[in-house]
Amino acid sequence: MSKTIQKNLNYKKYFVNSNLCYFKLNSSKSEKSFADEIHFSLNQKSKFISPKFFYDHKGSELFEQICNLPEYYPTRIEIGILKKLKNELANYLNDSFRLVELGSGSSIKTRIILDMLSQIQDHVEYFPIDISEILTTSSKLLQEDFSKLHTTGIIDTYESGLEFLKNYDNGNNLIIFLGSSFGNFSPDEGKEFLKKVNLTMKNNDLFLIGLDLVKNKIILENAYNDSQGITARFNLNVLSRINDELSADFNLDNFSHYSLYNESEQRIEMYLKSLLNQSIIIPKANLSLTLEKNELIHTEYSYKYTLSQIRELMFQTGFSIENIWLDENKQFALTLISKNI
Ligand code: AVI
Repeated sequence: MSKTIQKNLNYKKYFVNSNLCYFKLNSSKSEKSFADEIHFSLNQKSKFISPKFFYDHKGSELFEQICNLPEYYPTRIEIGILKKLKNELANYLNDSFRLVELGSGSSIKTRIILDMLSQIQDHVEYFPIDISEILTTSSKLLQEDFSKLHTTGIIDTYESGLEFLKNYDNGNNLIIFLGSSFGNFSPDEGKEFLKKVNLTMKNNDLFLIGLDLVKNKIILENAYNDSQGITARFNLNVLSRINDELSADFNLDNFSHYSLYNESEQRIEMYLKSLLNQSIIIPKANLSLTLEKNELIHTEYSYKYTLSQIRELMFQTGFSIENIWLDENKQFALTLISKNI
């Protein structure tokens, strides 16, 4: 165990095999924060549940299914851009880099970048940071394709995981944040997040971030209200999670999935709608709540950006833009940034 790890008593290290280990927050701490956050967010006049709680095991599986839906264009388009940019990206890696992924990379996107790294480096290290334990499953799958890959997972929020990594060692990091997950932050949260990432980055580090672009309202609304109802199951699953982990008694049949594109705010808004007047008890969050018929619980925003907003955002948060890659219809952007020094 290294000195850094001994210093960080909140994390425990688990070994899965000789090429795969992960760090996890002590469970009592993470359970408490879930209960506390749910207590707070469902105790407001305008109720909400943070989208970070979507991703338990079931939620992560449902999200994988969303990514394969015909209506959900971001995954397909981003993969297309990655396939085209991977050779160009290699030109920016003037030294040995390890891949740090915000989110667990079970997908083809991680493989495209790992593939590129293993063509230019003998030794490839991968540090996924994810709040969900699916990270261990996805990392095992990656090892089947990349036998020499060394994976160190961090099961925590992105900001805390990056903070953990800051003190870990001096390796160069290629941080990736794909799938337009950044869009799930509000503009202010997004700015704060980028500033924090900037502080954890070393001068040589690079950050590749995927952002969904403003487009036709119908394309957007279909992407978040698919014909197979997978997005609805994904949204409702957060209530099952509260039932399972906090002993609540939400009846999922009493809620429906509701989403819309708010053009002036440039965001998809997602809610759970109460279908009747009802009361719910959440013992482990020390909360009982009443919901009126048609009352909405907000669960997610998904912001869409213009290219000039992306440039402005990076400038404001202390980054230099190395490159922006787009698909031919300008639906999605992958931006490579470095710390402004
Ligand atoms: C993870 N995130 C980028 C997805 C999005 O598009 O905002 C989450 C999602 N919600 C519904 N569908 C997909």
